[in-house]
Amino acid sequence: MSLNDTLKNLRENGIDEAKRAQKLQELNDLRVNLLGKKGPITKALRGMKDIPAEQRPEIGTLANNVKKDIQAAIEEKMEELNQKLVAKKLEEETIDVTLPATKNNQGTKHILNQTIEDIEQFFIGLGYEVAGGYEVEEDHYNFERLNIPKNHPARDMQDTFYLSDELLMRTQTSAQEGRDMEAHDFTKGPLKMISPGVVYRRDDDATHSHQFHQIEGLVVDKNISMADLKGTLDALCRHVFGPDREIRFRPSYFPFTEPSVEVDVSCFNCGGTGCRICKYTGWIEVLGAGLTHPNVLKMSGIDPNEYSGMAFGLGPERFAMLKYGVNDIRDFYLNDVRFLEQFKGVN
Ligand code: DAH
Repeated sequence: MSLNDTLKNLRENGIDEAKRAQKLQELNDLRVNLLGKKGPITKALRGMKDIPAEQRPEIGTLANNVKKDIQAAIEEKMEELNQKLVAKKLEEETIDVTLPATKNNQGTKHILNQTIEDIEQFFIGLGYEVAGGYEVEEDHYNFERLNIPKNHPARDMQDTFYLSDELLMRTQTSAQEGRDMEAHDFTKGPLKMISPGVVYRRDDDATHSHQFHQIEGLVVDKNISMADLKGTLDALCRHVFGPDREIRFRPSYFPFTEPSVEVDVSCFNCGGTGCRICKYTGWIEVLGAGLTHPNVLKMSGIDPNEYSGMAFGLGPERFAMLKYGVNDIRDFYLNDVRFLEQFKGVN
């Protein structure tokens, strides 16, 4: 075969192979093999010496053109493969904006925290301070300073977990009363505090838990009377249970208040005519309260002839159970989201 034909063959095959290539690597190999120094074109050109001198320029031009053509075919194919790669990548990365979004579950404040915070805000609005407290409390503050000496029968109702003879898991946020009274500087004005927190009892049924919340309230000032207590609790019950609510006081007994009362609110379900929720009485018992017993003031270094006080203790669980119709107190503590998410942002 003449050198001319060999070169033309090489061109034909080279272009053909470039067109058939499926990968960039194949094209690279093709370029090295065909056009490189050890490739067939270079080799063929070594036969130039046997060709008459006048034909050499023509062959030389042909050889250059063959190289150029093959190079062009390889580049064209490379471009094509590159475009395919980009197209494939784009296709893989397409986002279908019409697909439903992945659901992002947003949590919510626990209903008890919502209830407590709502009541806190109410009292802050009346100028009360929110006091802390100790869940592990001294017998002294939990009982004795509340006029409940050792062996007092009122202790029976509040059996709890003792850590030692003098230390226990507090049974009532009333334990904070003595601590706040002795710490308060009455030259700066009256003591007005609420103290929310967890308390403990040896209880466990549908409406009682061994661990639950209370909010204690205490005001000590000159001339505090039952009228102050009634006005305050009236406003609280209207705030929590609705503007049409009324309250009534029933005589009761707590060792640390005198007189002591149970507070009932008119039924928010039937408005007072009688229904299942108020057990057909028109009233629902919501909290205990009273005027601070003189002994309690005295034990905190306050002169009961000069000062008087009012106190109340309420249960956020009870408030929330009544307000939202929750039947089992344990639902508050089980962390079942189906229960909890029903109270998203109610307060
Ligand atoms: N500490 C009482 C209890 O746990 C509730 C209570 C009643 C608190 C009357 C008070 C009050 O401050 O005046 O049963």
